Amino acid sequence: MSERLRIALTKGRLQDKSVELFEAAGLDCAPVRNPGRRLIHALPNYPLDVVLAKAPDVITYVEHGVCDLGVVGKDTILEKGGAFYEVLDLGFGRCRFALAVKKDSDFYGTYKTRRIASKYPNVTRAFFEGKGMDVDIIKIEGSVELAPILELADGIVDIVETGATLKENGLEPIEDVARVSARLIVNTASMKLYKTEITDFLSRVERELGGRT
Ligand code: PRP
Repeated sequence: MSERLRIALTKGRLQDKSVELFEAAGLDCAPVRNPGRRLIHALPNYPLDVVLAKAPDVITYVEHGVCDLGVVGKDTILEKGGAFYEVLDLGFGRCRFALAVKKDSDFYGTYKTRRIASKYPNVTRAFFEGKGMDVDIIKIEGSVELAPILELADGIVDIVETGATLKENGLEPIEDVARVSARLIVNTASMKLYKTEITDFLSRVERELGGRT
């Protein structure tokens, strides 16, 4: 008998796009479309249980093997790291990490240590280390665009999708840090233990993704 797999989906935008993708691949995701307050859902026509979680928790569940698979943004993967296989770029949730500053400010025009606010301190550290540049990093939990406006920071490293938030707050991107999109990740032990089941799931998703390009 085939083993039921468990997948963790990042709640919110990636959840909706994942559901669209899985349905196009033939999986009935009705329980996930109408979740109520339930956080775990058995799909009726495929041996898969869907768990809804916050992005960093998706990685935690997959790393610990309590979920075999996960859908999470590359932003969270870059920030949190971890031991798992990153097997597919799902093509949605596309955006970029950028360094942004107040419009017309001269970010590089001083030897003073720059102060950077970000929800992603590890990504920020790696980016500036790559430039050999010493910066002070301040961790902010959300609406990071406020930090330069309030003069807490000289710049931010954040996700830019349409660019509207930066623009409406008088900021501008001055450098790309990394490209981001949703990724399918797999627990390393599950990959061996449930190879047949995982291969079946991956090939369905890949077939659907292939038809999109
Ligand atoms: C993200 C990101 C930016 C905004 C970018 O924030 O941190 O603030 O979206 O999108 P845009 O380029 O299309 O304007 P989110 O909505 O996740 O909220 P948060 O800042 O409170 O985390």
